[in-house]
Amino acid sequence: MTGDRIVIDGGATTLVLGVADDGRLHQLGLGGPDAAAIDASFPTSLYPLAYPTHGEEVLREPALRATHGTGSTSVRLLVDGHSEQLHPHGRVHRIELVDRTAPLLVVLCWRTWPEHGVIEQWVEVTNTGDAPTVLHQAASAAPAVPGDDPWFTHWGGGWAQEWTETTEPLTPGVKSVASAGGVRPSLHRAPVVLYAGRGRATETSGSVLAATLLWGGDVRFDAEVALHRHTRLLAGFQHRGAERRLDPGEWFVTPAAALVWSDEGIGATSRALHRWARDHKVRDGHRPRSIVFNNWEAMFFDLDTDKVRAVVDGAAAVGAEVFLLDDGWFGDRHPRDDDQQGLGDWMVDAAKFPDGLGPVIDHTLAAGLRFGLWVEPEMVNPRSGLYEQHPDWVVAEPGRERREERNQLVLDVLQPEVRDFVLGVIDEAVALHPGISYLKWDANRDLFEVGSPALPADRQTHLAIDRVRATEEIMAEVARRHPEVDLMLCASGGGRSNLETLRWFHELWTSDDTDPIDRVRIQWGASHLLPASVLPAHVTRWGGKPIGFACAVALSGRFGFDLDPATLTDQERATATQATATAKQIRTVVQFGDLHRLVSPVGSSRAALAYVDPATGKDRR
Ligand code: DGJ
Repeated sequence: MTGDRIVIDGGATTLVLGVADDGRLHQLGLGGPDAAAIDASFPTSLYPLAYPTHGEEVLREPALRATHGTGSTSVRLLVDGHSEQLHPHGRVHRIELVDRTAPLLVVLCWRTWPEHGVIEQWVEVTNTGDAPTVLHQAASAAPAVPGDDPWFTHWGGGWAQEWTETTEPLTPGVKSVASAGGVRPSLHRAPVVLYAGRGRATETSGSVLAATLLWGGDVRFDAEVALHRHTRLLAGFQHRGAERRLDPGEWFVTPAAALVWSDEGIGATSRALHRWARDHKVRDGHRPRSIVFNNWEAMFFDLDTDKVRAVVDGAAAVGAEVFLLDDGWFGDRHPRDDDQQGLGDWMVDAAKFPDGLGPVIDHTLAAGLRFGLWVEPEMVNPRSGLYEQHPDWVVAEPGRERREERNQLVLDVLQPEVRDFVLGVIDEAVALHPGISYLKWDANRDLFEVGSPALPADRQTHLAIDRVRATEEIMAEVARRHPEVDLMLCASGGGRSNLETLRWFHELWTSDDTDPIDRVRIQWGASHLLPASVLPAHVTRWGGKPIGFACAVALSGRFGFDLDPATLTDQERATATQATATAKQIRTVVQFGDLHRLVSPVGSSRAALAYVDPATGKDRR
């Protein structure tokens, strides 16, 4: 192996690795296709390590840290083998590294997508010894980024403030950005960053690396600048509170990161991610999305059959294609009249809908719209029949107070009967209401007291990863059982904005903030990762802006509405109807075209973008 060069060829994104004389793996190059041209006279050992570990590079931030069964805390890896295989769209490389003395096998894995210019990377860690190992952290990727003028872009916020951009020059030290809370991570921190090593990149110029984590849980990015040394980006799951115990023979596979390089500015990285997402990640990525009319902001919890029918009529009048009945339709002894109770009791509220949802669904279908329903299957209000019956079904720590957020707790899907219950919520909603072809799957709180009886005492920290994977297994099963039902992903707005969970969803609710002025900035930020086809943008009354302006902003995403149609003046209704017709006309270009961001709303009061039909070159601005 010594002296070997390994080229991970992702087309526009290329990573070159080399094995030094002492057997350590180094990164020789990262960039466009010409990154493969390496100066052979420069010693491999002087290049940065490809995957730095705690105890190897003492002064640098590690990608991996573990405590072995002996109590030893350092990891020093040497290359032990390399294999390469084809997959339908590129290659899979696996480089095996073993510790010099401790029983640890670390396999670095890459999947290339040369047509899209994307490289995926993940890591598999196996305890090959006969005593338990504790894995404290394991980043998915640790690319060193060339250049001595590093700039970092990341997005964060909170409820109704998703995708607030920060672009900053990096100074020596480590800049860490991360999410927490486990359930709605991207509400706080988006799972994508930009790293420009050779000065600030613009939309159309400069070298830049975009990195995203394909992960529905908490993420962490550490951008490190070492004085007079190379800079590096660590991308992985948030390891704080997520340690893994690996028994002899056990292994752990990290989520994958995706890396996209551009020498022509930021715009090219977004277009590559959009194409890759539509072709390979998002569910039914090439199916045009429908125009949805949601009733949440029109009605909140104030529902009954006639009121809902009236909104359906208004939705039909402006030309919408799906009517979505949001929160508030369910509950029994604890009717869902506000957000304080009823969550978990998924029977139709007989006081609001004495004949069930049938009359509303029939009315919707007769009006020519499809019918959609809101659920929040992973959560429970303590004031519910479900909680009264099963107080032990929630994520909690024994003896610790159960703090509520939005008056609710998180169901513990690691318990098999809870998993079956969550699946059953969807199965029943679909089985009992023939005519449903759209579901909005919401989740409105984070995790505080993290514990599960399904895990032994020495593995309680596994919940951080295992809960995400268990939830995604349920989502995958829902998609498998109900292929005819479109799914919208929501977590208090855009709390689950990542490319992994979208494998089972058609779109995700971008943000609860629908003030068109704020929305320009939010949609702009989200477009650095997600294509417009998965980003609903609804016309509402939020912010009290003119309907025409709200329509113009919503037309740049997956168009829809969330307002009381009875409040529309004749002129506003005409504007909304015209906008719906326009949305139908332009949706192929907006949802499947190439996005060019022209004027940034960040720090300015103007914004402009264009979607270009790659086949004809025609654009929609
Ligand atoms: C939070 C979502 O983001 C809203 O769109 C709405 O569905 C509410 N939950 C309902 O409780």
